[in-house]
Amino acid sequence: IDEEATTPRAPVVAIMGHVDHGKTSLLDALRTTDVASGEAGGITQHIGAYQVRTPGGDAVTFLDTPGHAAFSAMRTRGANVTDIVILVVAADDGVMPQTIESIQHAKAAGAPIIVAINKVDKPDADPQKVINELLQYEIIGEALGGDTQIVEVSAKSKTNLDGLIEAILLQAEVMDLKADPERSAEGVVIEAKLDKGRGPVATVLVKRGTLRRGDIVVAGSAWGKVRALLNERNEQLTEAGPSVPVEILGLDEAPSPGEPLAVVESEARARELTEYRARTKREKATGGINQ
Ligand code: GTP
Ligand code: NA
Ligand code: MG
Repeated sequence: IDEEATTPRAPVVAIMGHVDHGKTSLLDALRTTDVASGEAGGITQHIGAYQVRTPGGDAVTFLDTPGHAAFSAMRTRGANVTDIVILVVAADDGVMPQTIESIQHAKAAGAPIIVAINKVDKPDADPQKVINELLQYEIIGEALGGDTQIVEVSAKSKTNLDGLIEAILLQAEVMDLKADPERSAEGVVIEAKLDKGRGPVATVLVKRGTLRRGDIVVAGSAWGKVRALLNERNEQLTEAGPSVPVEILGLDEAPSPGEPLAVVESEARARELTEYRARTKREKATGGINQ
């Protein structure tokens, strides 16, 4: 996205796959947190965004996506903002409908896939069966002469997590990901909500440049002066550079997920842009009749 940029940035990695194959558990194991057990019905219903520091000191940004059939739009969005897709397939369950859908999203977005065969601790785990099933979708492991890295892991017994990290870092190295942190920030809204106490809150992934407290930003028909930047642990940040996911406070409304976010030079410019966008949105809704 940033052709002339020379500064390396962290890879953005979306975890995708069929419901309950262990995406959130795998991320919990990588982050040593316990998000999965706190989820209503054990089902992920939003995109989580986290930056992890690997034991070797490399930063990796993870997006946790839902696997439930109902959340296809979130999977599309996850695949579109990511550099790499980790396809999680449970070793006892094998390739299932949202596994196939996730493969299609990754391919449509042009994101390379790393396969994580999870739950290998289970007595009925059959990783070889998963490997064979994936051939049908042109996902061919290196052992069979293909170019897809396939790693066998267990989120539960924390087996081979370093193998998964290694695969991500290797893939990222091949991609040579760079972005210019000096320019004014551009990002994309991953999620947004209206919070009772804090007002509109948007989770933004910074794609290039550096977003700072006090910046005036526009996202769709929303605008505002960034009042606070928070990481996933609710810690205040003063700035967020390329590949960093942040929650921002200070917008006048919750923007639509997927909207690009940009810094503008003045409040007047922000008002001008958002008023224009709100007007076109209204006109579209009324079939172009402007009275
Ligand atoms: P959705 O986000 O709802 O699609 O689910 P998910 O893919 O995030 O799966 P989740 O992490 O919620 O795990 C689903 C179930 O599988 C939970 O009961 C986990 O404890 C269990 N599980 C996850 N990983 C493993 C594993 O490696 N081994 C075993 N035995 N169970 C696991
Ligand atoms: Na689940
Ligand atoms: Mg989940």
